[in-house]
Amino acid sequence: MEDGGKPAERKLCCISYRKPLVILFFFCTFFTLYCLNLTENSSTWTYQLWSHYLQTTSQIKQQNTTLKQLFYNLSMTTTKMAPTVAQTILLPLPSPPKYISPGPYLVEYPYKYNYIINEPTGCDELKPFLVLVVPVAPQNKEDRQIIRNTWGAKKVILGKNVALFFLLGLGKMGEKEILEESKQHKDIIQSDFVDCYKNLTIKTMVMLEWLDIYCHQAFYAMKIDSDMFLNLPKLMEMLQNTPNNNYLTGLVERAAHVHRYQSSKWFVPFEVFGENIYPPYVLGLGYVLSLDLPKKLVEASREVKALYIEDVYLGMCMRHLGLSPRDPPISRAFNVFPLQYNRCQYSRIIATTLESHTDRWQLWADFTKPEPHC
Ligand SMILES: *[C@@H]1O[C@H](CO)[C@@H](O)[C@H](O)[C@H]1NC(C)=O
Repeated sequence: MEDGGKPAERKLCCISYRKPLVILFFFCTFFTLYCLNLTENSSTWTYQLWSHYLQTTSQIKQQNTTLKQLFYNLSMTTTKMAPTVAQTILLPLPSPPKYISPGPYLVEYPYKYNYIINEPTGCDELKPFLVLVVPVAPQNKEDRQIIRNTWGAKKVILGKNVALFFLLGLGKMGEKEILEESKQHKDIIQSDFVDCYKNLTIKTMVMLEWLDIYCHQAFYAMKIDSDMFLNLPKLMEMLQNTPNNNYLTGLVERAAHVHRYQSSKWFVPFEVFGENIYPPYVLGLGYVLSLDLPKKLVEASREVKALYIEDVYLGMCMRHLGLSPRDPPISRAFNVFPLQYNRCQYSRIIATTLESHTDRWQLWADFTKPEPHC
């Protein structure tokens, strides 16, 4: 330890020796910075450097978020979960939709409609397994007559009772004539809303209210249009093996687009329904539901804004309940496009739209001949 003797002295010496150097270094740095500052006009270059740094980092952040959004949208389009989000960002949008007053497209429902003609004990007396409800305009008496004498004629099928009711609104036919028809057949229910296309949702909801109040002890109901062909034995056969709650079946439409062109029969303005794709629904020509559903659907309708397209509206109420319509266990059981009459083929389906000018009496006479269908 040669130098061990004077450590304090050396320390002192060194500090005093380095101090001016350190001061000089800082002075020069500040001087250089000051001079550089003078060469810039107003805002300091340090500030500019800082703001440039901020800009680039925020750009990177932005790019990250747009990239994230892009991947999100891509995944959404492929899984078809939110096509609306994808469409608004990925696809170039045409000019924004011009405002259309929802006025004419608003449906007066929920609302308390009254029965002008009712069959309050019809279901109690008949004890049906299945209730057929045919919405029909008052003046279409011929349709009712054909149905009563063709597919609606049989009251017991596979040992189970079937009831048939016609649902009418207010129309062009005289009340006296309707009352007479009602007395004769005891199958007419008439409510006090105007019977027209734009009021079909009211008709469907009144049907569900009626089923819930007067027919809840039955197992299934079927809504079927008055111009359809119905193969009841096939339907009853199907209903032997189907769930008896939360069950809605028919021709299921999935991911149908909302019509935004005003010339369409099914035009719906944004203000009435803001989504671009309808939830799954069964086509209105004919659908079958278990009889726990009417009550639930009527309750849902108090929270789901009414749409005049009745079958779509039921789909919206089903979605609100967390339920979906199901495909029937028989393939091509429900046909929206007219199926050309063929005895064998008709025996395998449940319901179909008929070709115009079909003679329904003649078709029925042929269909019910005793010989085998195929
Ligand atoms: C639907 O029925 C209601 C109630 O009867 C009526 O006020 C309304 O005008 C009807 N809608 C159309 C489009 O006729």
